[in-house]
Amino acid sequence: MAGYIRALRWRGGFQAFKRSCHAQKTRLLWLSQDQNCFQCRALSSTPACRNRYEEVFRRSIEQPDDFWAEAAEKLVWHKKWDQVLDNSNPPFTRWFVGGELNTCYNAVDRHVKSGRGDQAAIIHDSPVTASVAHITYKQLQEKVSLLAGVLRKHGVQKGDRVLIYMPMIPEAVIAMLACARLGAIHSLVFGGFASKELATRVNHAEPKVVISANCGVEPTRVVPYKPMLDGAIDLSEFKPSSCIIFNRPHFDPAPLKAGRDFCWEEEMAGSSLVDCVPVSATDPIYLLYTSGTTGMPKAVVRPSGGYAVVLHWTMSNVYGMNPGDVWWAASDLGWVVGHSYIAYAPLLHGNTSVLFEGKPVGTPDPGTFFRVIRDHNVKGMFTAPTALRAIRAEDPEGKFAKKYLPTDSFKVLFVAGEHCDHETMDWTKNLLQTPVLDNWWQTETGWPITSTCYGLDMDLNPPSGVTGKPVPGWNVKVFNAAGKEAEVEELGEIYVKLPLPPSFSTLWKADERFKETYFTQKPGYYATMDSGVRDEHGYICVMSRSDDVINVAGHRMSAGALEEAILECGDVVEAAVVGVPDKLKGMVPLGLCVIKHDCITSHEEMVKNVIEAVRKSVGPVAAFKKALIVPKLPKTRSGKVARNTLAAMAAGKPFQIPVTIEDASVYPSIKEELLKLGIGTQN
Ligand code: COA
Ligand code: AMP
Repeated sequence: MAGYIRALRWRGGFQAFKRSCHAQKTRLLWLSQDQNCFQCRALSSTPACRNRYEEVFRRSIEQPDDFWAEAAEKLVWHKKWDQVLDNSNPPFTRWFVGGELNTCYNAVDRHVKSGRGDQAAIIHDSPVTASVAHITYKQLQEKVSLLAGVLRKHGVQKGDRVLIYMPMIPEAVIAMLACARLGAIHSLVFGGFASKELATRVNHAEPKVVISANCGVEPTRVVPYKPMLDGAIDLSEFKPSSCIIFNRPHFDPAPLKAGRDFCWEEEMAGSSLVDCVPVSATDPIYLLYTSGTTGMPKAVVRPSGGYAVVLHWTMSNVYGMNPGDVWWAASDLGWVVGHSYIAYAPLLHGNTSVLFEGKPVGTPDPGTFFRVIRDHNVKGMFTAPTALRAIRAEDPEGKFAKKYLPTDSFKVLFVAGEHCDHETMDWTKNLLQTPVLDNWWQTETGWPITSTCYGLDMDLNPPSGVTGKPVPGWNVKVFNAAGKEAEVEELGEIYVKLPLPPSFSTLWKADERFKETYFTQKPGYYATMDSGVRDEHGYICVMSRSDDVINVAGHRMSAGALEEAILECGDVVEAAVVGVPDKLKGMVPLGLCVIKHDCITSHEEMVKNVIEAVRKSVGPVAAFKKALIVPKLPKTRSGKVARNTLAAMAAGKPFQIPVTIEDASVYPSIKEELLKLGIGTQN
C-alpha cells in the first residue's frame, strides 16, 4: 500500500515535472531562433536518422551475438573467439569465449602502428602543481613497455595481482596499462582511502607488487601516500613482495624500506621493453572494489575482451567522439568512471584523454573546468553533478566560466554518478549552450546502462530529470512492488534482463555472493538496487538506491563499513549510519551512536572521536562529519536497525514506524538530538 501511495504521489510529480520540461523546451527553441543555440543545431541535423537509436537498440537485444561480434571486429585479436556468447551457466555469462587479445596493445601499440604515434594520448593538467604535460601514444608505449619490464623483473606474470595506489598522475595510467600488457590484474585504490581500507584490499586481492607514489596533492595540503601504504602493509596479513614507488618531482621523496621498496625511476632506467602478452577474453583485466551493504570487500571482476569491446563501442555510439578528438572525464582514476573513461575507453578509441589533477573550485577558482576545456580543445566531457553544484555555488552568474566560453571545440557534457537536479542541469545548459546529458551507471556495469546516445542521433534535449534511454545491450525493466512490470510512470525497482552485456563477470573470490547479491531477487534478472520510473517514450528516471548504500558526491559509501569503523572507537556499543541530503554532495553520512552507559567521556568528545575514527579507518573521502549520541537505536524484533526510518527522519520526510519495531519510544529522543544538530525531522 505504501508503495502504491508513493507511486501515485510520484506520478503527480512526474506530470508536473514534464509540464515544466515542455515549457523549458519551448523556451529554448524560441531562444534558438535568435541565438543559433544547440537545440536548433541538433534538431536541424538529425530528422532523417531519428530512429537509429531504436534500430540499434532492438538489434542489440534481439541479436546480441551478431551485435557485439560486429563491435569486436573493430579491435585487434590475437586469436578470434570460438563463441561470442556463452550463456549456458547464467548469471556467469561469458563473452568472446576462446578469443585472445591484449587490451594494452589495442589501447596503445595499435595506434602507434596505425600512425597516431605523435598524437597526445594523455594530457595531464594539474592546477595543484601548476603544470601541464602531454604524452604522445609513442611515448606512452615506451613508458608502459618499460614498466611492464620492471613488473616482470619483480616476478609479475599473467593472472598475478598488482595494487596501484596513486594520485592523478600519468604514471597511474602507465601502471594500469603495464599490468594489462603482461596480463596481470590490477586493483587501483582511490587515494582518499586510509590505511585500514587499503589493507582490506591488500589482503583480499593479494597483490604480488604494489605501485605507489610519494604523495598526492590536495588544494590545501600534500597527502603523503607512502606512510599510508606502509600502515596498510603492516595491518595486512598478506605481504606484497615488492613496492615500486614513484617520487613526484618537487616533493620530498618517500623513504624506501630496503629489500621491499624500489624507486620507480631507477627501476625504469634499468628495464627493457616488454611486448604484449595475449590473454583470454574472459581473463580479468582488473578488480575494482565497491561498497555493498556490509563492510566486506566486494571486488567487481572485469573481463578483458568484453570490456574492451564495449568501451570502444561506447566512445563513438554513446559519447559521440571520433578518434583523434580530445575527451575529458573529470573523475578520479580510483572510481569506475576513471577506469573506464579516463584510462581505457578513450585510449582504446584513439582519443586524447585529459587527466585532471584538481578540483572544480579552489584550484584556483570556479573557472578551472572551462579553462581546461578551452586550453585543450576538449570536445566531450564527463563530470558529476556535485562538481557542477560546487561551481554554481561559487559562481552563480558564470562570470569565471565566461572568461573561457564559448569555445568552438566543445560539443557535449555528460553527467553521472548521482541524480542531477533540475536547477543544476538548466544552469549548466544555459552556461555552456551545448547539450548536457545525464547517464546512469554503476561500478558493477563499467559503462552506462541508460544515456542519451549522442552518437546514435538521439534527441539531445531529453526531458529534464531523466537519465536517458537504455543503452544498446541493456534490457532494462522496472518492476513494481507486486513484482509485475511497472506501468508507465509507476515507481519501481530497476532490473536488467539477462544475459548482461559484456563487462561484469563475477565478484573476486565470491561467485556465490555474486549470485546472491544481484540475481536472487528476481530470477533471470540483474537487480540494480536502484529504483525509478519509465515514461511513455521509454526514458528512465533513476530516483534512489533501495539498499543501504549512501551516494556521497557521486561516490558510493557503505553504511555498514562506516558503522564498523565507528564501532572500533572504544565506548561505542551500537551505531547506525544513514545518508542526509546535502546541498553540495547530494548526500552526506550521519552516524547515530549508542555509547556505554558508564562512559565518562563527554558527548562532544565522543562525537569528535567517532569522526576521527572513521577518517582514520575509511578515509577523508567518506565526508563523515556529522555524528550524534543517542540513548538507543530503533530495532525490529529480529534485531535489525530500522535505518530507513532514521534516514527519513534525518531528511525531514514523513515515515511510518514499522509495526515490528521493538521499542517505538526511542524515536522522540533521537528527534531531539537531530534537532540540536539542525537536521530536519518529521513525526
Ligand atoms: N587523496 C587524498 N585525499 C583526498 C583525495 C585524494 N585523492 N580526494 C579527496 N580527498 C579528501 C579531501 O581532501 C577532503 O578532505 P578534508 O575532509 O580533509 O577536506 C575529503 O577527502 C573529501 O573530499 P572531496 O569529496 O573532494 O570534498 P571537498 O569538500 O574537498 O570538495 C567538491 C567538494 C564538490 C569540489 C568535490 O567533492 C568534487 O570535486 N566532487 C566531484 C566528485 C566526482 O567527480 N565524482 C565522480 C564520480 S563519477
Ligand atoms: P557507483 O557504483 O559508485 O558508480 O554508484 C552507482 C550508483 O550511483 C547507482 O546505483 C545510482 O544509485 C547512482 N547513480 C549513478 N549515476 C546516476 C544518475 N545519472 N542518476 C541517478 N543516480 C545515479
